Amino acid sequence: GAPVRADISKLEPGQRMTVEWRGRPVWVINRTPEMIERTESSDPARFSDPDSEVPQQPGYVSGPLRSIRPEIGVLIGICTHLGCSPLYRPEPDAVDMDNWPGGFFCPCHGSYFDLAGRVFRNVPAPTNLEVPPYRFEDDDIIVGE
Ligand code: FES
Repeated sequence: GAPVRADISKLEPGQRMTVEWRGRPVWVINRTPEMIERTESSDPARFSDPDSEVPQQPGYVSGPLRSIRPEIGVLIGICTHLGCSPLYRPEPDAVDMDNWPGGFFCPCHGSYFDLAGRVFRNVPAPTNLEVPPYRFEDDDIIVGE
């Protein structure tokens, strides 16, 4: 099909937008420096797959942030448990979890993901959220591949 695009020129730091790419909701998050720090400094032991060894992302993204640019996260907004839509809970006090680094909470059965879509241990979701293939056409335009 035709390439799908997201214009992120109006996406403020800390905000998340949802675009539809090929029938799936794709989240684009503009992570602040503080959000990046919280994500990068989270203890890997808290996550089921901290290094994304299960292939839920293209090969050109790596590290805890799972993105091309550190501040811009791109994730498929579908819970990897049974497909519900997780809620955006970016603030450190937004959920009842010690040292919550910010991220997403799925209300259906209680799965938690960080701001890079990494799934926490001991929740129903089996894998990290999926990162779709994408590239930057320029500073403001993301193209889904
Ligand atoms: Fe998200 Fe079950 S669908 S926790």
